[in-house]
Amino acid sequence: MTADKTTQLLSDHVDMRPVAANPDEAIADRNAIVQLDPDHPGFRDLAYRQRRNQIAQIALMYQPGDPIPDAPYTSEEHQVWFAIWQALQPAQQKHACTEYLECLKQLNFLPDRIPQLSEVNERVLAISGFRLEPVAGLVQPRVFLENLADGVFLCTQYIRHHSTPLYTPEPDVVHEIVGHGVTLASPRLAELNRLFGKAVKRTISAEALERLSRIYWFTIEFGVLREDGRVKAYGTGLLSSAGELEKMHEADLRPLDLDAAARHDYDPTHFQPVLFRAESFESMYQMLREYLASW
Ligand SMILES: [Fe+2]
Repeated sequence: MTADKTTQLLSDHVDMRPVAANPDEAIADRNAIVQLDPDHPGFRDLAYRQRRNQIAQIALMYQPGDPIPDAPYTSEEHQVWFAIWQALQPAQQKHACTEYLECLKQLNFLPDRIPQLSEVNERVLAISGFRLEPVAGLVQPRVFLENLADGVFLCTQYIRHHSTPLYTPEPDVVHEIVGHGVTLASPRLAELNRLFGKAVKRTISAEALERLSRIYWFTIEFGVLREDGRVKAYGTGLLSSAGELEKMHEADLRPLDLDAAARHDYDPTHFQPVLFRAESFESMYQMLREYLASW
């Protein structure tokens, strides 16, 4: 792999989605689609790497509109989901906003089994019209964000390595499904995702795209809001991490200001030291809707 491709692997998607190199190369070498960093918890686990390749292959062969093939999760991986669920459920009940908790009930996940993307897609599609599609190929932030305009969310299917159930260096199926999948079952959050996609399509300069990506980061990924006098999360990055949910009140909570968020740099590898807090779900929805519509 060239240095360029390595850089792209690290900077892909607004929350650093790691993906395979060029899909054509990946198909040519089916045993080496997914490149893991030597520091990755699964680097030395050959069976894990083979499974990651198999799952990446599903996405490479996928044609939009086809049924999504099941990922070959092992019982050990279902245990990882169980461990995450045990930690996440109490944290979400305390810190997630009402809109999220209502959507979560509708998706009806089981505590002891990783839901397949096809099942989650079916339910989300019926509620908000959003589709979840598997992805393994190189997806630039622009491609990821522009797909939102068409009501398509590009999802990874693999789960983090079993040796670190509460840590992942990259967004996995837990972040995708528990974070994005659930929030896309909210018609209002689904609409905001579409508006982000449409705004990106109207954005030409890399500098403006960067500003828009930061707004996505500080709202859809890490947004918090006031509800009944308390601070609650509606951002997918918070909602899929028990550790960060429990610590979010320690962040510097600033009133939601989209121009300020557009200028604020972030580091995705640590808990966020600065979060933007809306006055309510309704005010976040209206503010973002107007801002994106006039972008
Ligand atoms: Fe994300």
